[in-house]
Amino acid sequence: MNHVSARGSGRRTTAPRLRAALVSIAAGVVAVGTTVAIASSASAGTTLGASAAEKGRYFGTAVAVNKLSDSVYVGILNREFNMVTAENEMKWDATEPNQGQFNYTNGDRLVSHAQANGMRVRGHALAWHSQQPGWAQNLSGSTLRSAMLNHVTQVATHYKGKIYAWDVVNEAFADGGTGARRDSNLQRTGNDWIEAAFRAARAADPGAKLCYNDYNTDGQNAKSNAVYAMVQDFKSRGVPIDCVGFQSHFNSASPVPSDYQANLQRFVNLGLDVQITELDIEGSGSTQADNYSRVVRACLAIARCTGITVWGIRDSDSWRASGTPLLFDNSGNKKAAYTSTLSALNEGGTTTPPTTTPPTTTPPTTTPPTTPPPTTAPPTTPPPGNGGCTASVSLNSWTGGFVATVRITAGSAGLSGWVVGLTLPSGTLITNTWSAQSSGTSGSVTFRNVSYNGTVGAGGSTEFGFQGTGNGPTGTPTCSPA
Ligand code: XIL
Repeated sequence: MNHVSARGSGRRTTAPRLRAALVSIAAGVVAVGTTVAIASSASAGTTLGASAAEKGRYFGTAVAVNKLSDSVYVGILNREFNMVTAENEMKWDATEPNQGQFNYTNGDRLVSHAQANGMRVRGHALAWHSQQPGWAQNLSGSTLRSAMLNHVTQVATHYKGKIYAWDVVNEAFADGGTGARRDSNLQRTGNDWIEAAFRAARAADPGAKLCYNDYNTDGQNAKSNAVYAMVQDFKSRGVPIDCVGFQSHFNSASPVPSDYQANLQRFVNLGLDVQITELDIEGSGSTQADNYSRVVRACLAIARCTGITVWGIRDSDSWRASGTPLLFDNSGNKKAAYTSTLSALNEGGTTTPPTTTPPTTTPPTTTPPTTPPPTTAPPTTPPPGNGGCTASVSLNSWTGGFVATVRITAGSAGLSGWVVGLTLPSGTLITNTWSAQSSGTSGSVTFRNVSYNGTVGAGGSTEFGFQGTGNGPTGTPTCSPA
């Protein structure tokens, strides 16, 4: 099912897949004979991912897996981004084309690419009215409810330990002033379908942050008020939800709202993370550039806005390519919007640790099932007064598993690379590492920086993380320059 046009948002009803196919053919033609210089290594302050990491955030992009053979595309992807979202490959129609027959080929390709390059993955999307396989579109009632819950369980289990955050439910509220749920086959199975999906996702992958994701919710309006009320209700009743995603598809008919930051903040005040999940802003030149920097500043101003994802790399990769809404032109050159985005990420310096607790080290606000509260406090290690570095771990643990976030702080000489060592308790196994290369999965393990987070200025800091089964590490990790 094609995506349904959103009133007043400039969304299109043209067959998006056909357009995507034409766009990728065009992109292929553009790529031929085009040479783009690719920096051999990225450093803090010079790429989107490294600059976001300096502020304790990520900077991601939607990826179309069939473009991973396009060298210009992959060059930009690997240089600039440290989070990826599958543009279509993890949706219901892609992952369960026939009922009970799962196809993870393309989603797995994206995860492999991310893991090989030190990127994390946002999962998108487990339950949605759109892009359902034909068999699901034809189901209703309890049969559809069971099929949806099985889908959530199977897909979240397949990717268990590999996903930073899942969009568990996408676009469940109607546009316009009613604040009502969107009518859909899923909604008609009963109003509790959303919380049922969240509970199934938590049971399948307790280490993933679970998000509700929507569009036209970026400012305060009837739709975002309705989402807010739902999240507030979920928090009060213990329904597992960790984050709200704001798609942030903007154009002149649907501009960056003046209360964007205030709206994100009120959701954070409910005790969860927010993320900008599908950012694109139609336009060009300085107007577009200014809008991008406004969005970045709004996120950076909120301690629990954990990251920003743009919905594609080059304008020609966009689902609304004619609006030229992205950061790179059709040839892969940086646009003014890229420069303003990078500058906004670097505002206040590229080497100063965040003044607010970085979102990735904040203890979780919802407790995974059967879970004790987090066992360690955020890192308190002061920066070393010499040319070395220090590292500290914060843990989010539950029975049988944990996520560890390790913060590295450079001494007065700064770092051009780092190695962190720590020891895992017997029986503990690492299942997934991001933003570092690990030497092994058990016992004494060392972690080395990846391309975009080796350079850390004097007194600055960066982070990596890993997830495992068993108990998390105890004791202070070692850190040395490399
Ligand atoms: C879009 C993709 O970019 C297109 O390639 C596809 O044809 C349709 O879906 N909201 C979402 C995304 O949550 O999944 C949509 O992605 C864009 C709107």
